[in-house]
Amino acid sequence: MEPNKGVIIVTGSSRGIGKETARQLLALGFTVVVNGRNPERLQATYMELQSASKKLLSVACDVSTPEGANTLINLTIETFGRVDGLVNNVGVSSRGMLADVSPLVVKMVFESNVYGVVFPTQRALPYLRRSKGSVIFISSLAGIHGLPGLSPYCASKMALRAFAESIRIEEHKYGVHSGIVLVGKTAVEPDKEVYDEQGSKRHLAPREGTRIQSMEEVATGIVRALLKRKDRVIMTRLGKLQSLMQRVTPKLLEKIIVRNIHRFEEENK
Ligand SMILES: NC(=O)c1ccc[n+]([C@@H]2O[C@H](COP(=O)([O-])OP(=O)(O)OC[C@H]3O[C@@H](n4cnc5c(N)ncnc54)[C@H](OP(=O)(O)O)[C@@H]3O)[C@@H](O)[C@H]2O)c1
Repeated sequence: MEPNKGVIIVTGSSRGIGKETARQLLALGFTVVVNGRNPERLQATYMELQSASKKLLSVACDVSTPEGANTLINLTIETFGRVDGLVNNVGVSSRGMLADVSPLVVKMVFESNVYGVVFPTQRALPYLRRSKGSVIFISSLAGIHGLPGLSPYCASKMALRAFAESIRIEEHKYGVHSGIVLVGKTAVEPDKEVYDEQGSKRHLAPREGTRIQSMEEVATGIVRALLKRKDRVIMTRLGKLQSLMQRVTPKLLEKIIVRNIHRFEEENK
């Protein structure tokens, strides 16, 4: 993929990991499309990133609807005429045991995390075939084994693995690459929100400590997965260990999670 002509769409890039990924792609010389639902937040991001590079388009839309996904891809094609990469970074999360969680919350998490990934991918595929481009799915270590208090999120992130794998096989003959990145616990922006059991939004507490990755580190891993056409990237040593245990000894992994359930509850407050 040549930075000088490559056009990369990063969904959910008005803040957080997506915004940092967009920033790094712009610094490498790519043309970048940023996206988010909240137009004011997206505009602020656009203004900030535009000071570094003018090869930038912002498209405010909800990618979890077919109409939103159409808008994103159509405006990209109208403006730049091509798509070389799609980073499916959109993601929301919720907190609460499934017994206490409203069906609305499950629906909202699946809408953004699954439909919000599948619809833009479907729309982008004809253009990715032309450019022999790459689609990257942003999953999580929570997509390795189900975790307490996070079941809709875990399930939605596990679904991305199936899409990444199926698409890789289906699109092989067209030269389209499909890869997945499993992100570990990462620093968050002060305005990052999650849904509570009833679907109200609440802010996440700031995260710090040696086990927390920076948004810059994570974005660098995502950009590398895109450019090197990696099939599966698991971030952090803990993530690699978790993944190995899930393959070799999933019962033991589950026992460890059960033994640490209070820590999960505390960390996910
Ligand atoms: N942070 C972590 O610790 C961590 C760990 C593992 C995996 N991940 C994954 O990494 C990705 C980014 O996480 P983050 O912490 O940087 O998230 P974040 O700060 O909450 O940012 C999410 C972005 O997605 C946008 N968005 C959400 N739903 C959307 C939709 N339906 N249509 C368009 N835009 C939408 C948000 O903007 P609007 O709200 O304005 O739409 C925002 O720009 C997510 O997929 C997340 O699951 C994060």
